[in-house]
Amino acid sequence: MKKTLSALLLITVFFSCSEKKSTGGDSKMDTFINDLMARMTIEEKIGQLNLPVAGGAVTGIAISKDVEDKIRKGQVGGIFGVFGPDKVRKVQEVAVNESRLKIPLIFGLDVIHGHRTIFPIPLGLAATWNPDLIRKSAQVAAQEASAEGLNWTFSPMVDIARDPRWGRVSEGNGEDPHLGSIVAAAMVKGYQGDGLSRNNTIMACVKHFGLYGGSEAGRDYNTVDMSRIAMYNYYLPPYKAALDAGAGSIMSSFNVVDGIPATGNRWLLTDVLRNEWGYKGFVVSDYTSVSEMINHGMGDIQTVSALALHAGLDMDMVSEGLLTTLKKSLDEGKVTQQEIDQACMRILEAKYKLGLFEDPYLYVSEERAKNEVLNTETRGASREVAAHSFVLLKNKGQVLPLKKQGTIALIGPLADNHRDMLGTWVIAGEWEKSVSVLEGVKAQAGGAKVVHAKGSNITEDKEFIKRLNFFNQQMVTLDQRSTDAMKQEALRVAAGADVVVAVIGESQSMSGESSSRTNLDIPESQKELLKALARTGKKIVLVLFTGRPLTLTWEEANVDAILNVWAPGTEAGNAIADVLFGVHNPSGKLPSTFPRSVGQIPLYYNHLPTGRPWDGVSETKFKTNYLDESNDPLYPFGFGLSYTTFDYSDISLSKTNLTGNESLTATVTLKNTGSYEGEEVVQLYIGDPVATISRPVKELKDFARVSLKPGESKEVSFTVTPEMLKFYNSQLKYDWESGEFNIYIGTNSRDVKVAKVMWSISSR
Ligand code: NOJ
Repeated sequence: MKKTLSALLLITVFFSCSEKKSTGGDSKMDTFINDLMARMTIEEKIGQLNLPVAGGAVTGIAISKDVEDKIRKGQVGGIFGVFGPDKVRKVQEVAVNESRLKIPLIFGLDVIHGHRTIFPIPLGLAATWNPDLIRKSAQVAAQEASAEGLNWTFSPMVDIARDPRWGRVSEGNGEDPHLGSIVAAAMVKGYQGDGLSRNNTIMACVKHFGLYGGSEAGRDYNTVDMSRIAMYNYYLPPYKAALDAGAGSIMSSFNVVDGIPATGNRWLLTDVLRNEWGYKGFVVSDYTSVSEMINHGMGDIQTVSALALHAGLDMDMVSEGLLTTLKKSLDEGKVTQQEIDQACMRILEAKYKLGLFEDPYLYVSEERAKNEVLNTETRGASREVAAHSFVLLKNKGQVLPLKKQGTIALIGPLADNHRDMLGTWVIAGEWEKSVSVLEGVKAQAGGAKVVHAKGSNITEDKEFIKRLNFFNQQMVTLDQRSTDAMKQEALRVAAGADVVVAVIGESQSMSGESSSRTNLDIPESQKELLKALARTGKKIVLVLFTGRPLTLTWEEANVDAILNVWAPGTEAGNAIADVLFGVHNPSGKLPSTFPRSVGQIPLYYNHLPTGRPWDGVSETKFKTNYLDESNDPLYPFGFGLSYTTFDYSDISLSKTNLTGNESLTATVTLKNTGSYEGEEVVQLYIGDPVATISRPVKELKDFARVSLKPGESKEVSFTVTPEMLKFYNSQLKYDWESGEFNIYIGTNSRDVKVAKVMWSISSR
C-alpha cells in the first residue's frame, strides 16, 4: 500500500505546478493571503488544517486535548463545540493575541435544524416541500448562531437515503434527488444569505460527501457499494446543488466509495469535486474520519493522513493526523509543499470571506445574543414551519380537525413531554423551553375539556433504554407505576372522552446518528397502549412523533386519523394544536416512502422496472413479489392528505410531438372539492420507458404549491424541457435520448394522471 501511495504522490509532484494558485478569484484576497502565507512556517500552515472539538458535540471516542495550548502555538485552524459570546471571545483572544501570526479561528457547530430556536428535524423540513420556509428556518438558525459567535455550521446534510433503518434519515431530505437538491440549495442560501462576511450569516458545510446514506443494512458507519450510474443519477445531485448554491465547505464522509474511504478518495474529492464540478471551497473530514481509515485497512496514521491530503482533504476534524504527521511526510517526500499550501490557502480564504481578518470578533455580540435569539419572532417562524411539515396520513370520517367542544383525551408518553419535542441534534436548543402537546392543545381548546394520561412508558425494554440514554444522559426514564396501572388510568380517562388523541412514537434519541433500528414499529409498550385505546371504540387520532418512516400497517387499519409530526421543534405543541384544530390545514407531503414492513426495505418510488413485473393481481409465481407481503408501500413518496379534497383533471399537453430543444407545457386543472380552504403540492414526474440504460419507472422533476378556496379551480402548468429528460448513461455522459416519455402529474408518486409525448433529438 505504501508503495502505491508513494508512486501516486511522485506522479503528482511531477505534474504539479510550482506556483500557488488561488482558488478564490478575488485579487485583494489573493494578495492578502499570499502575503500571509509567505510569513507562515510549514508548522503554522499545517496548524491551519487542524480542527479540534472543544465540547458540545462529541460524536466519537476521541476528544481533543490541550486545545488552548495548541491555539497559542498556531496548531489550530478552527474549533467546534464552543459557542456563546463570552466563550468565543475568550478563545478567539488566545488566537489573535497569543499566537505568533494572530490568525483568527473559525468557530463551527452542528446547527442542524435551528440553534436556540429549534425547527422541525430536516426530514420534517423536507416534508414541507416549501423552499421559502426551509430557507427561512436556516436563516433564523444563522441569525441565532452568528449572534453567539459561530460562523460555520455542519449543515445541510443532503445524503439521499432509501433505508429507514438508518437513524440518520431524520437528518436528511429523504429519498429523492430532485426534492433533495431543492432543499439543499434552500438551506445553503438560508445560512449564507447575501454574503459570508455579514455578521448574521454563517458558512454552510454540505455533508456527508459522499453517498453516506447508502450504508448497507441501514447500519450507521457501514459499507457503501454502488454503481457509478446510481451515484451520478440519484446520490450525487444534492451535493452538487448545495455547492452550486454557494456552500463554502463540504464534509467528507465515513464510508468507502468504490472501495476507498471518502476521506482519502482522490477520485471523489478531486476528480469529481474539483475537476468535474469546479468547487472552490474547502473540504473538512468528518469526526476522526482521517484516523478511521486505519480501521478501513488503509495504513497507519501517517499513511492515511498523507492519503487524505493527497486526495484533496483540507481540514482534519479531531484525528490530528494531519497535524502530527504531515511535516514528517513532507520531509520524507510523501506529500508535497504545494499540497499543504493548497489546503492552507483554502482555509485562509474561508476565513477571509467570513470577514475574520478584518474583525475576528465579527460574530461575537452580547447584545445580539440577548435580543436576536429565541424571541417571539423566531418562535413564530418555527411554529409556522412546523405546522407546514406535518403530514396527514389518514383522516377517516373527517375526525380532524377537532371540534372545540366535548372532552378531548390526550394520551401517551409524548403528550405531556418537553424533551422529545426537539428531535435529534439539538446542541444549543433547550428542551425545557419547548411547548408540550398538552400545553399547546389546552391553550387552543376553547370550550373543549382536555384530559390527560401518560398511558405507557416510551419503551420498557431496559437494554434499549440504556442505548437511548448514551453517555449516561437521562433521556428516557421509566415511570415507577406498573404497566397495567398506567394503562388502566389511560382507559379511565379515555372512557370519559369524545375523542382520544394518542401522542406517541419515537423519542428524541431513537433516530439520528448511531440510532439504526431493525424494527420500525412504534415501540411495543406504546403500541400496546394504542391497541387498548382502539378497543374502547372511541375515535382515535394518532399524533405520531418519528425521525424516520415507521411501519404503520396496523395503525392504518385500526385508528381513525394519523397526523405524522416528525419532531417539530420548540413550538411543537402550538403547531400541533394549530393543525388539530384546523387553524392550519395540513399540506406536508412525504419525502420518503413508508413501507408496510421492514422486509420490503429498501423501498423507494423511483426504482427501476424489473424483467418480471407483477401487476398486483394476476398469478404471482415467477413474478417479482413476496410470498408474505405486497410490493406496495403503505404510503408512497409524495403522499399527504388535507382537510379538504382535491380533484385532478386529465393532463393537457401543448404539444405531443417535439424535436430538438423544444419545450412543452403540461397542464392540469385542480379543483378544491371539499369544504376547507387548502394548499396542495402538485407533483410532476417523468418516465422514460425505453433508453440505453434501464431508467426509473418515474422521477420527480418539478412541483408547485397551489392554494384553493372550497369550490375553487385553478389551472396548474409545468414547463417540461429537454433538460428534465437528461440522465447519466453508461458512459456517464449526461444527456437525453429520443423516444416516448410519460408525463405524470398528481398528488403523490402513485396517484397520478398520465400523458405521453414523443420527443426526437434528431434536429437538435
Ligand atoms: C459526526 C457526524 O457524522 C457529522 O455529521 C457531524 O457534523 C460531526 N460528527 C461533528 O459533530
